[in-house]
Amino acid sequence: TEFVSVSELANMMNVNVNEIISSCMSLGLFVSINQRLDAETLSIVAEEFGYEVEFVSADLQDSIEAEEDTEEDLKPRPPIVTVMGHVDHGKTSLLDYIRDTNVIAGEAGGITQHIGAYHVSLEDGREITFLDTPGHEAFTAMRARGAQVTDIAIIIVAADDNVMPQTVEAINHATAAGVPIVFAINKIDKPGANPDRIKEELANMNFLVEDWGGKYQSQDVSAKQGQGIEELLEKVLLEAEMLELKANPKRRAVGTVIESTLDRGRGYVATVLVETGTLKAGDIVLAGQYFGHVKAMFNERNQRIESSGPAEPAIILGLDGAPQAGDKFNVMETERDARNIANKREQLAREQGLRTQKHITLDEIGRRI
Ligand code: GTP
Ligand code: MG
Repeated sequence: TEFVSVSELANMMNVNVNEIISSCMSLGLFVSINQRLDAETLSIVAEEFGYEVEFVSADLQDSIEAEEDTEEDLKPRPPIVTVMGHVDHGKTSLLDYIRDTNVIAGEAGGITQHIGAYHVSLEDGREITFLDTPGHEAFTAMRARGAQVTDIAIIIVAADDNVMPQTVEAINHATAAGVPIVFAINKIDKPGANPDRIKEELANMNFLVEDWGGKYQSQDVSAKQGQGIEELLEKVLLEAEMLELKANPKRRAVGTVIESTLDRGRGYVATVLVETGTLKAGDIVLAGQYFGHVKAMFNERNQRIESSGPAEPAIILGLDGAPQAGDKFNVMETERDARNIANKREQLAREQGLRTQKHITLDEIGRRI
C-alpha cells in the first residue's frame, strides 16, 4: 500500500517539500511532489526529520459507511475558489467588491486573520463559493488548508508592489494541491502600478501568463474601482467549466471544517463547507472528535438557513466542542454512531498526546486521523 504524497508528508511535518525530495534522493528514489510513498520509505524519511510514523487500522474511517453515488445522482455544483496572495495585495477587497460588502472595514487593522467562506450568486444565476485567506506570514497553515479544499486558486498580486514571499508560498500551495491558478494583477488604478513587471516576475518563476504566450490565465483588475472584475470571474468560471464539477446533493453531507470557536452566547460555532450531500438543520454531525445535532444554521451574512448543498458554506451551532480547522465532518445516521467514533478519536488523540516523540498517525488509506 501507498500512503500520503510527498507534499502531504511535508505539510504534516511542516518542512519544505524540497527537503523531502532530497531526502528520498539520498535513498536513491527520485520522487515528484504528488507521488505517494510506501510505508517503509515514509518511516525512513520521517525519521530523518525526527518523526515516528505509526500505522493504525482504518476502522475509524470504515465505521463511517461510504455512500455510493450513481451517475444520475451527480449534479453540477459551484466551484470553490480560494483567493490567496501576499498581505495587503487586496484579497478581501476583491471579495468585498464582488459581494458588494465591506468586510475589510470590520477587520482589526484591515488584516484578515481567519478563512472566510462566501457563497456568491452572479446576475446570470451562476454561483461561486469563495474562500478568503489571510496573507500574513503567520498564517501559512491556513493557506495550505485553503488550497486543499479548493477547486481553483486566484493568486492576487498588487501591481504597485512585487511578487512577494507569500505570493510564492500561495503559488506553491496551489501547485502542490494540483489546483488550477488564475492570476489577478490588482491595484491597476494606482499611479505606480506596473502589471507588466508582475508578469515578468511570474515568467521568471516559470509561470507564463496567457498574453505572454503562456498557459496561465491572468487578469488586470482594480478591486477598488472594479475594472476587470467581470473578466476575472469569466476566466475563473471558464476554468471551472473544464473541471466539470459534480456532487450528489441527495446524500448525507460530507465536508470540511473551515474554522470553529466557542461563542459565549451560542456555544460552539463551526463554519463548515459542504463538499457533497446536503447538510440540514437537525442533522447529526460528527466533526473531528466532536459531534452534535445541528441546532441552527446560518449563512455568512448571519441569516438563518435550513440547509446547505454541495460547495456551500454554513455556520452551524450544536457541536459539543470545537473541531480543528481542516477536520472532515460527516452527517451520521444515528447519534450512537457519532458518539462512538468521536470517543474513539478522542482516545486516540489523548494517547498520542502522551507520547514524547513527534508522531504522524496514518490509517490504511493514507489519510491522517
Ligand atoms: P490581508 O487580508 O491582510 O492579507 O490583506 P488583503 O489582501 O485582504 O488586502 P485588503 O483587501 O485588506 O487591501 C489592503 C489595502 O489595499 C486596503 O487599504 C485596500 O483599500 C487597498 N486596495 C485593495 N485593492 C485595491 C485596488 O484595486 N486599488 C487601490 N487603490 N487600493 C486597493
Ligand atoms: Mg484580507
